[in-house]
Amino acid sequence: MAGRTQELLYSDIDLELSWSEDALPQVLRTKHVHSLHPYLGKFVPQLVEVFLDRYFEPGECVYDPFVGSGTTLVEANTFGCAGIGCDVSAFNCLLSDVKTENWSLGLLELGLKGALEAFRRLGRRDTDDASEWLQEWYSEGALGDLLAYRDVIRGLDPSTARVAKVILSRAARSARLTTHFDLDFPKAPVRDAYFCHKHKRTCRPVQEAGKFLVRYTLDTVRRLRDFSLLRQDRRVEVLHGDARRVELPLGPSGIITSPPYPGLIDYHEQHRYAYELLGLEDRRCDEIGTASKGRSRSALSEYRVGMIEVFKNAAAQMSSGSTVVVVVNDSKDVYPAILDGAGLVLQDRLTRHVNRRTGRRAGEFYEDVLVARTS
Ligand SMILES: C[S@@+](CC[C@H](N)C(=O)[O-])C[C@H]1O[C@@H](n2cnc3c(N)ncnc32)[C@H](O)[C@@H]1O
Repeated sequence: MAGRTQELLYSDIDLELSWSEDALPQVLRTKHVHSLHPYLGKFVPQLVEVFLDRYFEPGECVYDPFVGSGTTLVEANTFGCAGIGCDVSAFNCLLSDVKTENWSLGLLELGLKGALEAFRRLGRRDTDDASEWLQEWYSEGALGDLLAYRDVIRGLDPSTARVAKVILSRAARSARLTTHFDLDFPKAPVRDAYFCHKHKRTCRPVQEAGKFLVRYTLDTVRRLRDFSLLRQDRRVEVLHGDARRVELPLGPSGIITSPPYPGLIDYHEQHRYAYELLGLEDRRCDEIGTASKGRSRSALSEYRVGMIEVFKNAAAQMSSGSTVVVVVNDSKDVYPAILDGAGLVLQDRLTRHVNRRTGRRAGEFYEDVLVARTS
């Protein structure tokens, strides 16, 4: 909202979509599976709840072409809707899949605790065969732990292995050679003690990953259990693909999504450790609006074309009159033209005050919510 922020009046802001920290504390924003793994740029789940209440009925099917960490699918499920999500990032698909699966929790817990036992027996392993990137970003001890747990995952049944991969990735994120105050955007590995702005004392970079694997195993089981009490028996499909071309397995009743903002985040790079450790398919060249492409005129034009293709492809697989809810920081005011280019009819444009951003992105921030219909 850079240009429009100054002109905003209190009455322009949709209060049902804007919360103070008191009204919506972190513990609620990160409830059950929503915090299974850190993820930059995700929805506040309560925002999706409001959209579901306003625009959908239980029993319908909600599509998110940019499913990311799966917020739309989780909330659609608890609301009683089927959900389809698509993402070009294999790690995001894994995460969304693990969050929304109907787990046999007893078996899963047994499998994950068995994995920890096997990891303890195996002990730290040598790191000679690890990639250059991993050797650069981890101490030998931490990397030895992560590689040993990865060896254990290879012997697990495929279902337990999927959850264990998310635990491994979360531990890998915490165990990087970075400062405590720069986990979101670390620029270079930090190998020596440093003054920590978060803890106001001298801290040392992490030398092991075992403690994270234990902590996150317990936390993951707890979060999946909490979600299982709310989870409904509804179809959930997570598709690893490019939303410009993906074929949907059933016709959605509408869309709730937050597309990547141009030039802001590299979604593959954000979870580089997962790609390096798990050998996931890398499709970063198909990411729309990546930070690495910047915000030049040609990057923005490519972004517009890509977004039109995504919404056109989705609209072609939905009935006319379906609701499309898009949450963006549309500072360049490009979305009305994108929706129009995709044949969607803009019905409403709301403004949401994002009162709280964490870490280095703290400060005043507004988002736009565009509500359109397929023609
Ligand atoms: C803003 S994030 C979505 C976050 C999501 N709402 C959540 O709560 O986690 C945008 C997502 O779009 C994905 N993406 C970028 N280009 C894509 C493409 N061509 N097809 C499908 N997904 C894409 C990125 O990988 C990223 O996960």
